[in-house]
Amino acid sequence: MYSLLKPLLFQFDPENVHYFVVRNLKRFNRFPGGAALSSSIWSFNDPKLEKEVFGLKFKNPVGLAAGFDKNAEMIGEMANLGFGFVEVGTVTPLPQPGNDKPRMFRLPADAALINRMGFNNQGVDVVAERIKAYRESKHNDAGLIIGGNIGKNKVTPNEDAVSDYIKCFDRLFDVVDYFVVNVSSPNTPNLRALQEKEPLKHILNTLQQRNSKNNISRPILLKIAPDLTDDQLNDIVEIVQETGIAGVIATNTTISREGLTSEHKAEMGGLSGKPLTQRSTEVIRYLSQKSNRSFPIIGVGGIHSADEAIEKLNAGASLVQLYTGFIYEGPGLISRINKKILSV
Ligand code: FNR
Repeated sequence: MYSLLKPLLFQFDPENVHYFVVRNLKRFNRFPGGAALSSSIWSFNDPKLEKEVFGLKFKNPVGLAAGFDKNAEMIGEMANLGFGFVEVGTVTPLPQPGNDKPRMFRLPADAALINRMGFNNQGVDVVAERIKAYRESKHNDAGLIIGGNIGKNKVTPNEDAVSDYIKCFDRLFDVVDYFVVNVSSPNTPNLRALQEKEPLKHILNTLQQRNSKNNISRPILLKIAPDLTDDQLNDIVEIVQETGIAGVIATNTTISREGLTSEHKAEMGGLSGKPLTQRSTEVIRYLSQKSNRSFPIIGVGGIHSADEAIEKLNAGASLVQLYTGFIYEGPGLISRINKKILSV
């Protein structure tokens, strides 16, 4: 089905196509019987796929990566396509428009995307209310896990970044199941400097100190760039262990442009998709070995086939996420991965 639709969608500007697909998926799911139909076509459920990771029970290990549903507008629709978990965001305290358009580019010959969206989002208040409404609706029966990926506003200087992370953390605490601290996007000036040891420890320790309310604490994960050196990855292992956070998401998009052939290869921003597959798997393997598997890793980056998902799981990931592969291969990729997991 998607193979018929894709050539048409790929004729148009990628960001406009995104909004077009979102609008129509929402319409389809609102139509009587639409949600059930979507779920019966795409979802694949089997109790053997269930997995408990950082204290949460996932109905299957394939999730939607951050950036696709920045504003928590289509959690139910994504659940109906078969995702076991959905990560909303990156969300910032205040709404912000992001960078000027165009800011998302397709690189078809490389099966990749370059984006410099710049955390365009409606702000944490709107997002928190939407997740709350989703949870209060009947859809929540599905037991979907929802993650909140948090960042800082562009106007907030790095010295004050921690206060932005706290605002998002506090506002989302009651509505998300886990948190992701995003310091690895290449599209907010200087954000990646927060991956350095001291600022990172400060942010994570501060959030960990606040991480309990009525005896509930939320798993906090750190999302890292694929461009870190081995020394920096060693620091990450140390920081995760020292701060006691729940785990790592590896990886975000890369600033590398190695081996690209497509027209848009020189665009500024983060590169995702097939050119990232191998590097993210290497990062997962490195972290997993260095830490003696002492914390869970969510593997993301260039998963376009079931085999590539299995490679990430074999390298040490407990769960995987999709973004660019979902665009190139369509929702069928989710069930193909889940079926493959059962067969290996
Ligand atoms: C992203 N990604 C992303 N990550 C994040 O933590 N916060 C975000 O807001 C975004 N935004 C975003 C927008 C677009 C257009 C893309 C393509 C990607 C990164 C994403 O979650 C993922 O880590 C990488 O894209 C690598 O995975 P894929 O795309 O190769 O499967």
